[in-house]
Formats: sequence, C-alpha cells, structure tokens
Amino acid sequence: MIAKSDSKKIVQMIEEGSGFWTSSILIAANQLDIFDALSLKKTAQEVAKKINGKLRGTEILLNALTAMGYIKKVNEFYMNTPFSEKYLVKGKETYMGSALGHYYQMWKDWGNLVDIVKNGSGDIQFEKKFLETDANQTEVFIDTMYQLGQQDSVTLASKLDLKGVKRVLDVGGGPGHYSFAMIEKNPQIRATVLDLPLTLRVTKKYIKKRNMTGKVDTIEGDFTKDDYRKGYDLILLSHVLHSNSLKDCQKMINKSYRALNGGGRIVIHEFVLNDDKFTPPDAAIFSVNMLVNTKEGASYSISEITSLLKSAGFKNFRHGRVTERSGFVVGYKE
Ligand SMILES: C[S@@+](CC[C@H](N)C(=O)[O-])C[C@H]1O[C@@H](n2cnc3c(N)ncnc32)[C@H](O)[C@@H]1O
Repeated sequence: MIAKSDSKKIVQMIEEGSGFWTSSILIAANQLDIFDALSLKKTAQEVAKKINGKLRGTEILLNALTAMGYIKKVNEFYMNTPFSEKYLVKGKETYMGSALGHYYQMWKDWGNLVDIVKNGSGDIQFEKKFLETDANQTEVFIDTMYQLGQQDSVTLASKLDLKGVKRVLDVGGGPGHYSFAMIEKNPQIRATVLDLPLTLRVTKKYIKKRNMTGKVDTIEGDFTKDDYRKGYDLILLSHVLHSNSLKDCQKMINKSYRALNGGGRIVIHEFVLNDDKFTPPDAAIFSVNMLVNTKEGASYSISEITSLLKSAGFKNFRHGRVTERSGFVVGYKE
C-alpha cells in the first residue's frame, strides 16, 4: 500500500528514472538535423527522406517532439515552433543546440555508470577522446562552452576588481569568452588563451567574431605540463579544475603563482560544492559527469580550492557566486 504522503516522491522517482527518454529524443533530433529540416513544413515521409531515415522511426520521433512542444503538427505536416526555429536550427547566429551535440558525446558513457562506480572510470577520458584527436567534436564542445557561458562570463567580469589589470592569462580558456568579458569591462586588458591546439582553432573563430584581434592572443600548451611564462596581473582558471585530480589542480595553481607579477591575482571559477559535498545539487550532479567523463575529476568545494591556493602561497582570499551552482575564489600574490 503506497502511503499518500509518498505519492509525490514516487512521481518524482519515476520522472527522474525515465528522464533519459526525453533527453534522448531531443539529443537524437539535434543529431539527425530534424530542426534544420523543419524550417519549412514537411510530412513525416519528407523528413525521413531528408534525414536519410526510415519512416516508422521518423514518424514516432516527430510525434514525440510535437508532444514535448519543440515542433508543431498540423494535419499531416510538421514544422518548427518559433523557439526551435530560433535556437535549434544549425548555422543560425542564435543557435543554442551545441549543448545537445555535447550531451550526445557523453551519454553512451553515462550508460556505464553502474560499471564505473563498481570498477572505476578506467580509461574514459573526454580530453583524450576528442580534444586531442577530433577537430569536429572539439568544435561542438567549445561551441557549447561559448553558448552556455555567455551570460556567466559577463557576470564573473562584473564581480571582479579589474583596476590596474593589464595582462591576463586564461588557462584552458576555450572560446576565450571570459577574457572577452574582462576586456569589455576594462579595455586596457590584453589576454592570452592557453589551450590545446584543436581548441585554439575554435578560439580563433571567436576572437574574430567578437572583434578581439590584437587584444586576445593564444598559446598552445598542456596546462598540467607546460610552463605558463611570466608577467601576468591576473590568471583565470575557469571550469578547468573539475576535470583534474586535486594533485594536478595544485600543479596548475603553483604554476600560476610563479607566472604572476607581485600583487597579481588568481581567479578560480568553478561549479563549487559546499563543505557538505551535496549542495548545491547541480554541482553534486555535475560531479558525476566528471566521474563518467574524466579519470580523476570532480566538483570541488570552496575550502578545497582555498586550501590549494594557500599551499601555493596565495593570500587575502575573496569568494562569491556567479550562478546557483558556480562560484569564484580570488587569491593574491604579495
Ligand atoms: C570545460 S572547458 C572550459 C573553457 C572555459 N575556460 C570556460 O570556462 O568556458 C575546459 C577547457 O580546458 C581545455 N583543456 C583540457 N585539457 C587541457 C590541457 N591538458 N591543456 C590545456 N587545455 C586543456 C579544453 O580545451 C577546454 O577549452
């Protein structure tokens, strides 16, 4: 007999347990270019032909997407809603669907979570799979970082004291948008993005797109192994610690300390956990993504990050939030 007081939680459990159904429908539609096909209305038969698919699967998928509100169905014709036309048609300036491509990169490994918890993450390394070998997959990943980080980059810059900052190093800067936002706040700043070669091809696309040529340059390097050079007033590590072990994070923070000018500061921006390690919930759930997709990464807490900074020699810490699940810590080199 189900207790009345439990029925709400049972509904939640069933919804969470089957959450991958709707997730897979949306991800598959993006992979199959369904939204590109439905800029003009089409029958299921016409969509199947366009995407090189079978009629049965195409029709079932189209009806589910209609039920989920991403497309409309009138008589036998399907077409995009205004939302999907704006955000899910590839190649449009307003396209926000790269994240769906990125989730497709990860979801097969998520299916192995039981084995990963039992046996460890083995050799699953997102970086090795894509970032060092596959330019197209790297572009999907870095486009996702750009699309998801547009607002956060502006919020972070608005919360930082950038007075007197001239030289910035953006370690694992990806598309470079956090540097762009700092430059927009303080036009004196010149920034360097240190990242892997395939990523930097995409960085250069965004430097051009955002008119940052001459203000942002790039250096190829591995952030755990290579030297960061010297002469920076601010070093940013945004969303890079979580894919690494605490030992490698310490290495990166030590390198940053050496590369900074006296009086310079390090800024760590991350999905930060509270000391209980389960709040905020998004940061705890993101940590499972790191368990699945990296060898030794995880979400870290503000106190773990601050203690790495202390060990490197940083002082005068300040921290704050950027979103519900992300926050920053600033430390100074005296
Ligand atoms: C999650 S993204 C963060 C991008 C950006 N900093 C942001 O906050 O949106 C991680 C970045 O680290 C880079 N990266 C991963 N492994 C690296 C390595 N070993 N050396 C240098 N960069 C690396 C990736 O190419 C990517 O740009």
